[in-house]
Amino acid sequence: MTLTPERILVVGSGGRENALGWALARCPGVAEVLIAPGNGGSDDHPGCRSVPVAAGDDPDLEALCRSERIELVVIGPEAPLADGLADRLRGAGFQVFGPGAEAARLEASKQWAKQLMQEAGVPTARAWRVGSLEEARPVLDALATSPVVKADGLAAGKGVTVAETREQAEAAIAEALAGRFGAAGEQLLLEERLRGPEVSVLALSDGQDLVLLPPAQDHKRIGEGDTGPNTGGMGAYAPAPVLDAAGLEAVRRTILEPTLAALRARGLDYRGVLYAGLMVTEAGPQVIEFNCRFGDPECQTLMPLMGPELAAVLLACARGELAEAPDLTVRDGCSACVVMAAPGYPGSVQLGDPIRIAWPEPAGDRQLFHAGTRREAGGTLVTSGGRVLAVVGQADSFDGAFETVYAAIEDIRFDGALLRRDIGHQVRHL
Ligand code: AMP
Ligand code: GLY
Repeated sequence: MTLTPERILVVGSGGRENALGWALARCPGVAEVLIAPGNGGSDDHPGCRSVPVAAGDDPDLEALCRSERIELVVIGPEAPLADGLADRLRGAGFQVFGPGAEAARLEASKQWAKQLMQEAGVPTARAWRVGSLEEARPVLDALATSPVVKADGLAAGKGVTVAETREQAEAAIAEALAGRFGAAGEQLLLEERLRGPEVSVLALSDGQDLVLLPPAQDHKRIGEGDTGPNTGGMGAYAPAPVLDAAGLEAVRRTILEPTLAALRARGLDYRGVLYAGLMVTEAGPQVIEFNCRFGDPECQTLMPLMGPELAAVLLACARGELAEAPDLTVRDGCSACVVMAAPGYPGSVQLGDPIRIAWPEPAGDRQLFHAGTRREAGGTLVTSGGRVLAVVGQADSFDGAFETVYAAIEDIRFDGALLRRDIGHQVRHL
C-alpha cells in the first residue's frame, strides 16, 4: 500500500528547503507543504507556505506539527539534525525524515565518521586524530606530502584546509586549535591527500535499504576554473558522468551499504539522506566526507529530476518501510544549477538590496529557488544571505540545460550579483 503524506513540514530556510518544498508539493496526494521558517520565495511555489518558526524552536515546531496535522517532517540542514531535532520530534510521535543526533555524527564529527569508515572497511583517506601541535608534528614528519587539515566538528563548510606546504599545514592546525572554528576545531583530523574528480552520491535510507539518486557534481570554489576560497557551493549538475552505472553500483556496494551496516551495528537507525562526498581516485571512489542531509545546491539540481513518488518514498524512509514503497522514478535528461550570490560572498556580504526578477511564463524546464531572500513589509524582495538564488534548468544535453539557466539569469538583477559563468565546465562545450 502506498502511503503519501498529505501535509508535510520542511524545516530550514535555504535554497535546499525551497527546492524540497517545490518538489514535494508537486507529488500527487500532497495537499500542502509548510516551510519553517522558509525565505522570500517559500510562498511562490504552488502548494507551499512559509511559517515563521525557527528550526531551534522546539515547542513551536511541535505545536505547528499538531495544529497543522503534519504527517511527515523533513529536516533540511545539518545543525538541527546534529542537535537532536529529529529525535525530539520522533519522541513526540511524528514521522521524521532525517537522522537522530547520534547518527548525524557521521557529519558532525569527522573523527567519529573516520572511525566508523575504518571499522566498516570503507575506502577513505588514511587519517590521524590530533588535539595539539605536539601530536601533529610526528604525523607531518612521517607523511610524504602535506595533509588535509580538518576541524572535527561542524564549521559551515569552512573547517577544511588542503595544505600545499608543511608551513600551511602547521598554520592551519595552530589556527584551528587557537579557536578559529570554536569548539568544532578543538580536535582535528589530519588526512592523506587524495587526487581525482569529486562527486556527490546522495542516497535515501530507512536504516535498512537505500535508494541512490543520480550522482551530482558541485562547484565549491568561488572563482572560475574552480579557484579561490571554498563556498557552500556555487552551482552543480547531475547526473555527473564521472560515475557511470557500474561506478554507482560500486559506491553502493563498497561505501553506502557497509556504512549503513556499521551504523546498524551501533544500534543506529539511519532514516534520512546518506550523502557521500567522494573522490574518484585511480584506486576507485573514496570517501572525503559524509553528510547527513541533502547537499545544497545538489538538492536544487536533483529535485527537478525526481518522479512523483518522492513524497511517498521520504515518508517510507521515515517509517522504516522503504522496501514497501513505490520505486522512485528519475527523469531522463540533464539538470544544471547556477547560484547567484551577494557581493562579498563567501566573505562578509552586502545585504538588503532589491532583487528584480522577470521570470518567463510558462516556466517550462527551469526553476527558480530562493535562498538568501526576504520580503519586506511592502512586498519588495531583497537579498538577505550570501547565496541568494539558485537558477536550475533541464534539457537533453548539459549544453542545453546550462543555456536555459544562463538565459534565465539575464532577467534577474540585484546589485553586484556574483555568479560563475563556467559551472559544469567538465560537461559543457565552452
Ligand atoms: P569537506 O568540507 O570535507 O567537503 O572538504 C572540503 C574540500 O576539501 C573537499 O571538497 C575537497 O575538495 C577537499 N578535501 C577534503 N578532504 C580531502 C582529501 N583527503 N584529499 C584531497 N582533498 C580533500
Ligand atoms: N554542496 C555541498 C554540501 O552541501 O555540503
